Amino acid sequence: MANRISDELIDRIREANDIVDVISEHVQLKRAGGNFKGLCPFHQEKTPSFNVNPARQIYHCFGCGVGGNAITFLMEYEKIGFVDALRELAHRAGIALPDRRSERIDAEDDPAVVANQMALAFYRSCLEGDAGTEARNYVKKRALGSDVMSAFAIGYAPAGWDNLLKAARRKGVADSALVSAGLVVERDGGGFYDRFRERLIFPLLSSGNRPVGFGGRSLGDQEPKYLNSPETHLYRKSYYLYGLSQARQAIRLSREAILVEGYMDLLSLHQAGFHNVVASAGTALTDEQARTIAKYADKVFIAYDGDKAGISAATRAAETLVQLGLKVRVAAFPGGEDPDSYVRQAGADALREVLTSSQDFIDFYVSLNPTDDSDDREKAARNLIETVVGIEDSLKAELMLEKISTALSLRPAAVARVYERRRAERQLRGRGAQRLRGRAREHAPGSVGGNGRQTAGPDASPGSTGRQDEGVGGYETAGAHYIAQKGLLGLLLAGGEGAERVRSCLEASDLTHPEIRMLAERILAGPASEDPIDIAALVDPRDDRSLAVLLTELTVLDPVERDGGRLCDDYIGVIRKAQIEGQIRDVDKEIRAAELTGDEERATEAIIRRQELAQLLSGLSSDR
Ligand code: GTP
Ligand code: MN
Repeated sequence: MANRISDELIDRIREANDIVDVISEHVQLKRAGGNFKGLCPFHQEKTPSFNVNPARQIYHCFGCGVGGNAITFLMEYEKIGFVDALRELAHRAGIALPDRRSERIDAEDDPAVVANQMALAFYRSCLEGDAGTEARNYVKKRALGSDVMSAFAIGYAPAGWDNLLKAARRKGVADSALVSAGLVVERDGGGFYDRFRERLIFPLLSSGNRPVGFGGRSLGDQEPKYLNSPETHLYRKSYYLYGLSQARQAIRLSREAILVEGYMDLLSLHQAGFHNVVASAGTALTDEQARTIAKYADKVFIAYDGDKAGISAATRAAETLVQLGLKVRVAAFPGGEDPDSYVRQAGADALREVLTSSQDFIDFYVSLNPTDDSDDREKAARNLIETVVGIEDSLKAELMLEKISTALSLRPAAVARVYERRRAERQLRGRGAQRLRGRAREHAPGSVGGNGRQTAGPDASPGSTGRQDEGVGGYETAGAHYIAQKGLLGLLLAGGEGAERVRSCLEASDLTHPEIRMLAERILAGPASEDPIDIAALVDPRDDRSLAVLLTELTVLDPVERDGGRLCDDYIGVIRKAQIEGQIRDVDKEIRAAELTGDEERATEAIIRRQELAQLLSGLSSDR
């Protein structure tokens, strides 16, 4: 489209704004060697660990891990979108941007985004207008005030089959754009109708504050009570956390998050002054959602419904969060209450009290399950250990084991023994599974869905999820293989001889860590250079935050002065070794499968292949 902000213009704006100047307007910085240091604005600290590097035009906090360039800084600091941050920097530097009206559409090439933005404005105006009387009454009944209504851009989809459709056509938004956004549904006989009708609308905002989808609640008894957008390329259910864009800052500052089930719970809590709330809205908490929470929080209060289904969902959510090393507390609401009804009735202080007196995961679990005789205690211990086995951080695991033995009056040594055995078994199996998952991810990016636990039936008892076969992370983040991948990326970033060597013997697809691979792809797509890569240009504000964090972490740390070529060869050796080891594991599986089915030919072939691989591997080791 005509007035789209070009990459050249973005670069020009970036170059016209020195990051030290930009950040100095918000944070007091002191020179420290080649860098500047200050108190991190994104978490509470007393000694400065927030670094700004003028040479590379990036910032990084060693305390909380945030990092990026001047644009991402403003986005995070002021909680604004990419275009608004850019606008502010352009203004600072006296650079003209296309005007806001045209840019609103033009900056967003994606028709689905345009359709969602149009729909959001439409739903907002319907809530205000004549058609919105019933909805406004409903809002009043649910006691939602105007502040929270506008902070979450709540709207209303009026009754009727084609209100949005018609409004879109008037605004020149194509039917196909509405379809790609999931806003309309195709009729059997051709044509379309509005998906959301006679519903209060909760826009699902991205971290850049763009609507990626919508949730809608019926005003009365119409079924279903809640209706959500379908999955689209913008809206991935298993990754999406409702309310995160409004809660991110509060969670980051307190390192605590409150997790609720529903839209209404979240809005009520926000209104009562709890701004660090997110909701998994519509799914059981997935691993991906949990991982997102873990980026900002150390501790999570689970505030689910007080009924049986809520308790069972809370148990599963707790297990997922605990495995990521988060501190978990489960709040208990009386019988039929949920956080929304509770806070409305009892008030904010009472809710605070419920949170304060919430139980940690072990106590919560033990309080739910019978522990009268030794069989019960053994069963409870085994189930709890199963969760602890998934924790990567061994110190955290250790502390949990201690709690288990205390809570169930079991000897610590006995608990530790069961744990060690389960851990060993899991590591044996986990590696193969991890590798396979890594591959699935390569072939179908973004298609790795939830954790398969959403559909657990009512009788799925806690801890019986058989998850010993699942790896915790989708990929390794420790060990030689990870260090080698990171090292190779570091060499690529540093430019010069080391980078040249990496380019000559490595392809991005050799890297299994998704973020490292993505960055390598970007660097390899550009020309080789003597000089270090322009980091700030690599950080795209629309990326997942962890990408920028990884990148800045790599570059703010001064590279070890060593022969780049040599270093490259060492790292490549590790990568090749890991690749072959993976192939050997796959062949082992093949051999076992062939033996099981009595297919001798296949088994023999696999065994020969295994010998070849083993030879390759020993050749690699003796080379080095
Ligand atoms: P209110 O009745 O409005 O207070 O909502 P609630 O949040 O208390 O409802 P409930 O506890 O029944 O559901 C919690 C969350 O599950 C909701 O916010 C929705 O995200 C989801 N949910 C509930 N019912 C449905 C449904 O019929 N369809 C879908 N897709 N999601 C639902
Ligand atoms: Mn409710």
